[in-house]
Amino acid sequence: MKKIAILASGGGSNAESILKHFSLNKTISVSMVISNKKNAGVFDRAEKYNVPCLWLNDDALKKKILSNYLFKVKPDLIVLAGFLLKISSELIREFPRKIINIHPSLLPSYGGKGMFGDNVHKIVKKNGETQTGITIHYVNEEYDKGEIIFQKKVNISKNDSVNDISKKVQALEHLYYSRIIEKLLSIEKG
Ligand code: GAR
Repeated sequence: MKKIAILASGGGSNAESILKHFSLNKTISVSMVISNKKNAGVFDRAEKYNVPCLWLNDDALKKKILSNYLFKVKPDLIVLAGFLLKISSELIREFPRKIINIHPSLLPSYGGKGMFGDNVHKIVKKNGETQTGITIHYVNEEYDKGEIIFQKKVNISKNDSVNDISKKVQALEHLYYSRIIEKLLSIEKG
């Protein structure tokens, strides 16, 4: 069985779509959900699927408990789904091409420190873009700069509010993230 570890800091809608997608899969499973936020919505979502959860406070993160835990469990893929902390160089070295992230824009546009969630959509709207989208990429040591695995565009209009843009982008995220995860793990298998 291939193991996925999901790391999330927020509401966890992407985590839930991944949990749902793999819930009946016989060869790939989500084996843990980890968050740095005690009350993250993602914990309630993981409970519905009986997936073990781990909350790491800042102190635990500083003491490298996240790295130690992942070194021990050795997931086949570490999936960031709205995880807002920087991944340590140590983890990146230990899991080469095994840590992926989803970003709510067409990178390299609108990436970098501070660019997450609605912050991205607000600037996309302000700049009058006619298209936005999603990027799934490997995680390297620079924010949003790792090798791109997959992108999908969506048209937006000047009448779209930030919330409309967010909904369009989220629909793409929920449609494609699990598929790409499945593809990556299947390639690795064969
Ligand atoms: C998603 O839109 C994801 O692309 C974004 O956080 C949101 C998490 O939503 N990630 C980033 O902005 C990373 N820079 P969710 O908690 O509902 O899955």
